[in-house]
Amino acid sequence: MTNGYEINVEDIKKDFPIFKINMSGKPLVYLDSAATSQKPQQVIDSIVKYYSEYNANIHRGIYDIAERATEEYTNSKEKLANLIGANSVRNIVYVRNTTEAINLVALSWGNTNIEKGDHILISDMEHHSNLVPWQLLAKRKGAILDYIKLDSNNEKFDMENFKENLEKNPKIVAVTHASNVLGTINDVKYITKEAKKHGSVVLVDGAQSAPHIPVNVKSIGCDFFALSAHKMLGPTGIGALYGTEEILSSMEPLFGGGDMIDAVTRYSHSWNSLPWKFEAGTSNIEGGIAFGAAIDYLNTVGMEKIRRHEEKLVKYALESLESIKNIEIYGPKKDETSIKSGVVSFGINGAHPHDVAEIFNSEGIAIRAGHHCAMPLVTEVLRKGAVSRMSFYLYNNEEDIDKAVAAISKVKKIFHLE
Ligand code: ALA
Repeated sequence: MTNGYEINVEDIKKDFPIFKINMSGKPLVYLDSAATSQKPQQVIDSIVKYYSEYNANIHRGIYDIAERATEEYTNSKEKLANLIGANSVRNIVYVRNTTEAINLVALSWGNTNIEKGDHILISDMEHHSNLVPWQLLAKRKGAILDYIKLDSNNEKFDMENFKENLEKNPKIVAVTHASNVLGTINDVKYITKEAKKHGSVVLVDGAQSAPHIPVNVKSIGCDFFALSAHKMLGPTGIGALYGTEEILSSMEPLFGGGDMIDAVTRYSHSWNSLPWKFEAGTSNIEGGIAFGAAIDYLNTVGMEKIRRHEEKLVKYALESLESIKNIEIYGPKKDETSIKSGVVSFGINGAHPHDVAEIFNSEGIAIRAGHHCAMPLVTEVLRKGAVSRMSFYLYNNEEDIDKAVAAISKVKKIFHLE
């Protein structure tokens, strides 16, 4: 799968059946992994295997296939705990996605801990998933939502502004680890250290970091970390909330029902142990199991290698794009790839991003165009209606970027641009 230090993309691609298809009559070039990643055969097979060999509910039956389902589902959490440096499965709550993980915190922790006049600190770089839940909480409680501003280039956090905001002693600081638009990788370890000096709880949105860079939640020191499986080779409908044992133990479950209880009488109940008290009803068992298979795949390649591969690609893409006339690139540029994930958002002066995406599609290239679920960043900070975005993963190579550059030339030709 790899040849020493480099990822062998040709070998990797063989594991992903999607790359056998054509789009617009051309071999698929998939540059939209920030929206969702493609899935290797191993992950697809794990779902078929569960349904054909040991389909049963978890935590209920005491027959062999039920025990196997429970074991595989729990193993998946163990794999995730190891991948992100958590202590144990007790720290890992399975939810539908990053959005649900953050809403769980805003609803459970937030409803108990946030009071009128409290400050909640997020940033101008957030995806709606780490923004709207805090707006809702602030509205419910009469709390104040503050934003860390970006620097004058709109690339990174303005750290002076971050520190000024900390003087308000926010109850919670919730920031993205890596921006889905700018690609900026934020120094969440430093942010957490500073926030802790002010007694803040810290949540890190890891939707765009966990799939692409090595993560260690204990080294970051955050209280919460949220992620989605579908962006890291796993299926949709499954994601995770990491929480420290201390904070998860202090929180009330959001949903009541089966599996989340220890005992129930007609008028009372007690809760199950962590993490199960947060998982009421039958879980997404196939999703959890397939997420485990996705983590196995990521481990076989290695997160360090994936990061190095993507940094090489992002540097190549930025060098290629920065040399083209009338292109605007958002986020850190080629000299700062050490703080840029495999995300390159850009605009071609004179062409609407939706037209750009359509022309890319005609070349078999999938990119995303729009506000990328980060409207305050795109419309209020970058002052654009929409931007085009390429995002890379372990199955992309320089040839894909060359094709994207050729597609940009096609756009310019069609619109008679310089
Ligand atoms: N959050 C995903 C994206 O950035 C959907 O495209």
